[in-house]
Amino acid sequence: MYHLRLCMFVLTLKAVIDFSQCQMLEDVQRLTDDLLKNCNSLLRPRRNQSEVLIVNLKVELITLLELNEVEETLSLMAIMLMSWKDDQLVWNPRKYNGIQATRLRSEQVWTPPLVLINSVTKIEQIGHDHSWLLVFALSNGLVYFSPGLILSTKCEVDVTYYPWDEHNCKLLFLVWGYYPQEVAINPIENEIGRTYYTENGAWELKGSEIWVFEVSMQIVLRLKRRPEYVLVNAVCPIVFLSFVSTIVFLIPAASGERVSFSLTILLSIVVFFTIIGDSLPKTSKSLSIFSLYLLFIMVTSIFATLANVFSLYIYYKDEQNPVTQCWVKFTRCILCRSKKRPMKSRGQSQHDGKHPNVQDQCIKNNQSCLPYIVASVSNDTGECRYTNSKDSDTSIEDKFDRNENVSWKDVSVAVDRLLFILCFMIVSISTIVFAVLMVK
Ligand SMILES: *[C@@H]1O[C@H](CO)[C@@H](O)[C@H](O)[C@H]1NC(C)=O
Repeated sequence: MYHLRLCMFVLTLKAVIDFSQCQMLEDVQRLTDDLLKNCNSLLRPRRNQSEVLIVNLKVELITLLELNEVEETLSLMAIMLMSWKDDQLVWNPRKYNGIQATRLRSEQVWTPPLVLINSVTKIEQIGHDHSWLLVFALSNGLVYFSPGLILSTKCEVDVTYYPWDEHNCKLLFLVWGYYPQEVAINPIENEIGRTYYTENGAWELKGSEIWVFEVSMQIVLRLKRRPEYVLVNAVCPIVFLSFVSTIVFLIPAASGERVSFSLTILLSIVVFFTIIGDSLPKTSKSLSIFSLYLLFIMVTSIFATLANVFSLYIYYKDEQNPVTQCWVKFTRCILCRSKKRPMKSRGQSQHDGKHPNVQDQCIKNNQSCLPYIVASVSNDTGECRYTNSKDSDTSIEDKFDRNENVSWKDVSVAVDRLLFILCFMIVSISTIVFAVLMVK
């Protein structure tokens, strides 16, 4: 960075200084001695102390180091290019063998006591720890000073639209200890310079503004998060997981896998919830919509787990207890409604009048078939074909057409269907609402 600064100096001053003249070391030494003899670095360098000293200033942003949304701090690297007129550093070049410019250590001359007041590390003058840094002084009193800065400031983060959030980070500078009539800041441009700017991978600099009020200067940086990382690593997996959590009701109850399946999904969602929570500020000032969506998905998943257990409870209920009329009505209602769906036509065509009454045929063959597990009767032998009621909802539907008995397992199938549709709708609607809110 020192190299860079040097280059800038040379570029700025090449036009002003005639380097071709023959200058001896003694001349430079005599000039430096004479200048420092009359120079007090503590005094505001104006001959007429009633006059204001104007500090011209330009901020060149080098890079954004980090915007830490958890601690709400912004770190960046910048160069502050400053110039002002120092009445103590004026000389006649002809008296010093034509020397038009010289270098002095910054601690030997007056420098503007510019302080970053919303710093999170320490309050100190800009360039204070750069006492090795040289200022460039011209014979007419113009002084150039360009300290490099590594700053950490407080930046309030509003994560409502995380990961599509935008933040305005403010850097507040103050000329410490001077009245506005004494020192004035004059920014050359009303935005931050980006000649040497290197892009940050996580944040995009959308723009900047510089405001000056009396002895204070405010630099506002508009930062926009690049959402791709969070999108791929958190948003997409959670959306997919939330849909997967609904298919638990499609797993056959007899497989015995359902509870472990839904608990695994619930656990994954909780893990994501923790990860997202860790990457957001720990304040209640702004709640992220994404967190709320995640919470909603988690609650839905918990509900699905409980409902799943309830459904299994019904499935394994003792068949000695008769199914209450209420449940029978419910089951008929759910299963008949779903039968009307065109998707089920495959099942209907299977029983297209060849076996108008499976139950009767079984009884005819003196086979004790429970109604809920008989799917069909073999054409040739007249044997009952036993199937799990889960695998053949169609047979149940057919039974209802004939007003046959409803068992607890049928009720469980109906409950599963209702819950699947319910959970799928909740997840779909909440995902759509989340997407709409994000698009704004
Ligand atoms: C000093 O500056 C003030 C304000 O510009 C002016 O009124 C005053 O005459 C100046 N004094 C001298 C001695 O030049």
